[in-house]
Amino acid sequence: MASFFSLASAAIFSLLGSALALPSEQASALSARTEKSSVDVNVLYSFGNGTWAENLAIRANGQILLSRLDTPEVLQLDPQGLRDPITIASWNASTYMGCLGISETTPDMFYVVTSGFVDDSFVLTSGVNSIWEIDMSTFAVSESTGRVLSNATVSKLVDVKTSDFLNGMTTLSDNTVLVADAYNGWVYRVNTRTGAYSVAINDIKMKFDSIPDPPTNIGVNGIKLHEGYLYWSNTAVGTLNRVRISSNGSRLGDSEVVVNNVPKADDFIFKSDNVAFIAQNQMDELSVYYPWATEAEVIAGSNISTLLAGVSAGKFGRLPSDSHILYLTTSGAEGLPINGTVTVPATLSWIDTSKF
Ligand SMILES: *[C@@H]1O[C@H](CO)[C@@H](O)[C@H](O)[C@H]1NC(C)=O
Ligand SMILES: *[C@@H]1O[C@H](CO)[C@@H](O)[C@H](O)[C@H]1NC(C)=O
Ligand SMILES: *[C@@H]1O[C@H](CO)[C@@H](O)[C@H](O)[C@H]1NC(C)=O
Ligand SMILES: *[C@@H]1O[C@H](CO)[C@@H](O)[C@H](O)[C@H]1NC(C)=O
Ligand SMILES: *[C@@H]1O[C@H](CO)[C@@H](O)[C@H](O)[C@H]1NC(C)=O
Ligand SMILES: *[C@@H]1O[C@H](CO)[C@@H](O)[C@H](O)[C@H]1NC(C)=O
Repeated sequence: MASFFSLASAAIFSLLGSALALPSEQASALSARTEKSSVDVNVLYSFGNGTWAENLAIRANGQILLSRLDTPEVLQLDPQGLRDPITIASWNASTYMGCLGISETTPDMFYVVTSGFVDDSFVLTSGVNSIWEIDMSTFAVSESTGRVLSNATVSKLVDVKTSDFLNGMTTLSDNTVLVADAYNGWVYRVNTRTGAYSVAINDIKMKFDSIPDPPTNIGVNGIKLHEGYLYWSNTAVGTLNRVRISSNGSRLGDSEVVVNNVPKADDFIFKSDNVAFIAQNQMDELSVYYPWATEAEVIAGSNISTLLAGVSAGKFGRLPSDSHILYLTTSGAEGLPINGTVTVPATLSWIDTSKF
């Protein structure tokens, strides 16, 4: 644990691109807390101008798999920032816009969304959304040199032809993932052995247009299974919601709103004690929700600060030394520039959640 903190507090930067300078806004945000924040935000990796880190999954060995939306790539990052990012998988950027939700089924077997091209209204304009399998069990890297000795095995599972904009993903069982379609406002179940898919949950609280004049056409976004419920964020409505589901992902009852003060809610994650951390990408804020509370509260960032510019998703470390560390992807506010104009490089950042 000591080594984690000493390394992490050294504010390790692994900059992609040699001559990359840190924008002054970000530099000042790193040293100063904003008025609202009550937890320190630390940058572990920074990916350069115009990048968008969208989602992440943590391997059992602690290494972090990160999906990029600005280009179709999945990277592996070290939780202590010990080595440069390694490209695990990349796709033709003429075929896919980028990568989104990523989730593990059996040990080291991951699935990731590659997205077709959408317009500003998130309507699919060309291409198709696909689910790919990334088998990390064949991946090996030299501890000493960081050189890749053996690649991950990457193969297409299925084109989800009926989908418009696939986003969050979570694991239902060893052979099933759930995937949110943010524009259509429903959740697919996808069989990871056969590629068969069908709509598992189609709920009014998943629709962006369930309110008048929605601020964006993104409805259901992050999805997670927790204590027998499927939880989801609705970005346009600014809510976290849930419904009880069966082992095959079918609903068992009515849906309910859990919390309704998380504007632009993107992905979210539960800590082991039921406390939820909610990334509010286009508000540049991270909120915490305690199960006994009626409202979520902002713990870091604000929409005039670059501290957590476009924070998109979070996952907890899986090592004994970092299980209290919440790793966060940020999009650099590429989705909605801060104050209308300010974007910064996307990051993998982290916070210590011990006090929450
Ligand atoms: C990134 O953007 C900043 C601020 O606009 C600029 O100063 C810097 O030169 C850019 N870096 C690269 C590598 O383009
Ligand atoms: C990427 O796809 C485009 C369009 O299909 C094709 O022209 C190009 O050759 C592909 N690039 C690579 C590196 O395969
Ligand atoms: C891994 O894949 C990359 C990209 O296809 C290739 O250049 C490299 O040679 C592969 N490495 C090994 C060890 O097979
Ligand atoms: C899912 O399980 C329920 C019973 O819990 C059953 O009624 C339903 O038909 C199943 N759906 C699918 C798609 O297997
Ligand atoms: C956004 O605007 C506010 C008010 O003018 C200012 O205080 C803040 O520093 C600005 N933020 C950035 C990142 O430029
Ligand atoms: C920040 O968010 C508030 C709502 O909480 C909104 O009124 C304000 O216009 C936003 N400011 C900017 C610069 O986006």
